[in-house]
Amino acid sequence: TTPLIIDTDPGVDDAFALALAAASPEVDLIGVTTVFGNVSLENTTRNALRLLALLGRDDVPVGVGASRPLVHPHPHLSSAHGADGLSGYADTLPWPTRGPDPRDAVTLLRDLLDQADRPVTIVPIGPLTNIALLLAAHPGLKPKIGRLVVMGGGVNGGNITATAEFNVWSDPEAARRVLVEEDVPTTLVPMDLTRRCAVSSQWLTDLAGTSPVARTLVGLTPDYLATYRRFLGWDGMAVHDAVAVAEAVRPGLLGGTPFPVDVDCSYGPNRGALVVDRRREVDAPKTLDITMEADLDGLRAFLFERLGALGVR
Ligand code: BDR
Ligand code: CA
Repeated sequence: TTPLIIDTDPGVDDAFALALAAASPEVDLIGVTTVFGNVSLENTTRNALRLLALLGRDDVPVGVGASRPLVHPHPHLSSAHGADGLSGYADTLPWPTRGPDPRDAVTLLRDLLDQADRPVTIVPIGPLTNIALLLAAHPGLKPKIGRLVVMGGGVNGGNITATAEFNVWSDPEAARRVLVEEDVPTTLVPMDLTRRCAVSSQWLTDLAGTSPVARTLVGLTPDYLATYRRFLGWDGMAVHDAVAVAEAVRPGLLGGTPFPVDVDCSYGPNRGALVVDRRREVDAPKTLDITMEADLDGLRAFLFERLGALGVR
């Protein structure tokens, strides 16, 4: 099994991502770290703790991370996931048997990497602030990171602005540090792909019928579904972050093509945009594996099979 750490800002699709990790025997979820993003740090931490309790994994340490971006003030949180981040249902989830780890996110990440006897996969599915701080503070631990699988960026346009995707836009300087400046093997799962493997309302209804845990998980989706209906006219939702975890669980599931990238940190209309250099002749010091194609039906079936087995042991 691969040791796995999820850095997250739950978030409805983050909830599905945590559930997929908990339901996957190929990975050993050794830690979760929280970051501001979809909602405030206070709320993302509460949500992470309660979701792990729902999943029967409140043994996993939760390190509390950054409450704001590295350099510049944060323009605003997301409204897509409801005021509490889980469509108003956060407080209906089980109460965890323990609170956050006494160590902050960066210290917990340091300790987990330091103690690991195998390369650790880290899956950042929120703003990249904690990971940027980790790499800046503890560069010597980089070899312990087998791989980063990052959900973020839009190759052909964004969701929070015309050109920027929410996670990268929320802390562009941190994203630049992690995605451009640090030499850690990284797979980037952009919103181009995650939007294409959206799940339908019917898919969710079917999932809810599989177990009480799955029903509770699906019960967290109404505000998020409403956002997709209102802005995109969909009868369904993207499970962005769960797609990144799927790649961490089954390396190679999404494929990936190496491209050099940059992140726009200017204060113009493109702030937070991912700039992907698709010129083939460029000899770049660093490339990211960017996943643009996948067997979408296969991926949805994989998610359903795993999430449908939740709580059924
Ligand atoms: C990303 O933004 C958040 O709202 C989601 O949880 C996901 O991590 C998608 O752009
Ligand atoms: Ca997220």
